[in-house]
Parts: sequence; C-alpha cells; structure tokens
Amino acid sequence: MKASAVIFDTDPGIDDAMALHLLARHPAIELRALTTVFGNAPIATTTRNALSLSAFYGLDLPVAQGAAGPLHTPAEQDFPAHVHGDDGLGGMFTRLPPSTAQADARPAHQLICDLINAEPGEITLLAVGPLTNVALALRHDPTITSKVRQVVVMGGAFGTHGHGGNVTPVAEANIINDPEAADIVFTADWPVVIVGLDVTQEVVMKHHYLAALQGKDGAVGDFLWEATRHYQDFYHERDGIGGIYSHDASAAAFCIAPELFSLRSGPVRVVTEGIARGQTIQDFHKPTGEQTPWSSCPPQQACIAVDAAGVLNLFAQAFN
Ligand code: BDR
Ligand code: CA
Repeated sequence: MKASAVIFDTDPGIDDAMALHLLARHPAIELRALTTVFGNAPIATTTRNALSLSAFYGLDLPVAQGAAGPLHTPAEQDFPAHVHGDDGLGGMFTRLPPSTAQADARPAHQLICDLINAEPGEITLLAVGPLTNVALALRHDPTITSKVRQVVVMGGAFGTHGHGGNVTPVAEANIINDPEAADIVFTADWPVVIVGLDVTQEVVMKHHYLAALQGKDGAVGDFLWEATRHYQDFYHERDGIGGIYSHDASAAAFCIAPELFSLRSGPVRVVTEGIARGQTIQDFHKPTGEQTPWSSCPPQQACIAVDAAGVLNLFAQAFN
C-alpha cells in the first residue's frame, strides 16, 4: 500500500511528541514537513521542541515556524504550563540531545501551500494545535482546497459519550486558542476530519501502558515515559483516570488506520462569541432547505466512536 504524505502542524506539547513518534516510525506515513504553532507553549518553545524532537527521532525534513498567536490577537496570552510544563515537554526538553538544526526560512503557512502545490492530491495536512497556520494558508492560497488530499484536525468536542470541552464546559483547547481560525478551516470547501475529545478521551494510556515504554526504541521510550509524568499528574488530579488521554496520537492514528474510527457527516461551525466561545457544533441532520448558519457550509466528518484498543495497539507497535 502506498504511504500517505503528511504535513504535521503541531504545538509540541507532550502528546504532540507522542504523535510525532508514531508518524515518524509507521511505514504507512511519509512525513514531508513539520510546521509549528503557538498553543501548549509560546512559538519559540514549540519550534525549538519540534526541531529537537525531529532530530531525536532521526527525521530529516523542513521545520517551519508558524503563528505566534491567534488571527485576532488577544491582549494577553496564557500557556498551559500546568499541563505540558514550562518547556512544553513536561520539564524534559533538556534530556533531548542538543540540536543545531535551524527552522526553514519560510513561514509555516507558506511551506504548507508550497508542499500542497508540489504534490496535488497527495498531501494530508494533520493539524494538532490551534488552526491559525491552516487558516493563514487558506488565505495565502485559496486554491489549496482543491489540491489537498484531506485535512485531519485534533480539536473540538461534540458532546458524544459525555465529552464536552476541556478548557470550558464546551470548548476544547486547540479550538478555543483560535476559534476564528477554526471556523474558517471547518467551513472551507475541502475534506476535513475532526478527531475531537469525543474519541481522544476514550483512548486512555494508563500508567502501566506508559511504564512499558521504558527501555524501548533507544532512548525514546524513556523520554516519553518521563515527559508524560507531568501530564499524567495533571489528568489524574483533574479526572482521576490513572493515565493520560491520547489526543494527538489518536489523530495520527486516524491517518494510519481510519477504520478504527466511526465518522458522522455534517457541516461544522465554531462559536466565536459569548460564553460558548470555542464550541464546535455539527449539524448532522438531513438538510431541510431552511437557511441556517450551517446550511451553506460543506459537510465535514466528525469522529464519534473509536476502537480504543486498536489505537493503543497501533501506538505500542511503533516501539521496537
Ligand atoms: C489538545 O490541546 C493540546 O494541549 C494537546 O496537545 C492537544 O492537541 C487537546 O485538547
Ligand atoms: Ca497539540
């Protein structure tokens, strides 16, 4: 089977680092580039992390720095050090081998457009941070909508299986970090699959599962085990799950094994104002002809169920 060409737009991030390992190791994926965005940490930190992780995983590809903040910049920005640590990697950045690699000279949105234009119909754009770079790419070159193979997004929450937001009762972190960008991306006329909390919070990597990574794949298993200590403490204190949710790695798993997920079709809008800012809402009913905020938007796919054991097996198999 032909491998999928993937651009990974990311804000590393502990679960981003886990997703990147799966993408780097799996034979069904050919990574073309990493593009960075603010989110789990400031942009200088997420870019530095992407460069070092790329070298650590033995990748040789362009890494382009992207947006430092949302399309409509707020006065102040908060970064979730309580979730991902000050360095975005649970305090483990200094354990990575020093890297002298430099970022690509192009901004992330330009590299995204260049690569999609270079291989029309081939590129999967996998975005696991705020959607600012993706919205900027659409603005930079609207023709990419007809040339991308698919856009896979980790973000949002549609309330199935009781999964609401993780920042507010209705808003997920990547979406609330730039709701305007997310609404642009979801309403564009291109094929989007949304891997939201509805499924990522169904895939729990328990303490024993993470402990078993130690000693695997050279120093990588030890690094990810150590990096997830901080993340696990946060989730355990908040939700008592004895492990971590597998957010970004589940979206990477979708790119490899989409059959592990069930999809629901319908246009998706993002609330940009008021107390529900950042909420993702899908209209999955048959169109009635009535004009609504969804009616002129293309249908997108939201993941609403997952074979969690299948995703966990896929991730574990990426370690030797
Ligand atoms: C998402 O937000 C970030 O903290 C994670 O890396 C993931 O992409 C989960 O809501
Ligand atoms: Ca992320």
